[in-house]
Amino acid sequence: MSRPDIEREAILALESAYAPYSAFRVGAVLEAEDGSRYTGCNVENASYSVTICAERAALAAAIAAGAQRFRRIAIACSGSSPVAPCGMCRQALVEFGTELEVISVTPDGQRTAWQLDSLLPQSFTPQELGRRGGMS
Ligand code: THU
Repeated sequence: MSRPDIEREAILALESAYAPYSAFRVGAVLEAEDGSRYTGCNVENASYSVTICAERAALAAAIAAGAQRFRRIAIACSGSSPVAPCGMCRQALVEFGTELEVISVTPDGQRTAWQLDSLLPQSFTPQELGRRGGMS
């Protein structure tokens, strides 16, 4: 079966990664409820902790374009097996919904998927602050 477009786009995005320190390339494509897609890649820095992950780069692109309701994110990495998003990215994404589908792939055809709330159970969300989170 051929690979869904969003997964191919995530694999393309990892080619843009700036990862001279880890050599671990990551691409991400975040899809909004209206089908529009926003791309990110990891952007490393000589001051290592300044690094931005692909998932948060995609989220920032989406928010800057006015999207706030999302249905899925595809992540692709250059590693030997699919990666789950780091804890910081899980928290960044859960701001906009616990039910996001998280798909992770490798260029050689491996694939794993989760729902975000299984990756970050009992999360701290805008609801805890009496807010709805995302565009509503
Ligand atoms: N990285 C991501 O971009 N997303 C993840 O889900 C895991 C880690 C990046 C950060 C850093 O540039 C490199 O992968 C190695 O940690």
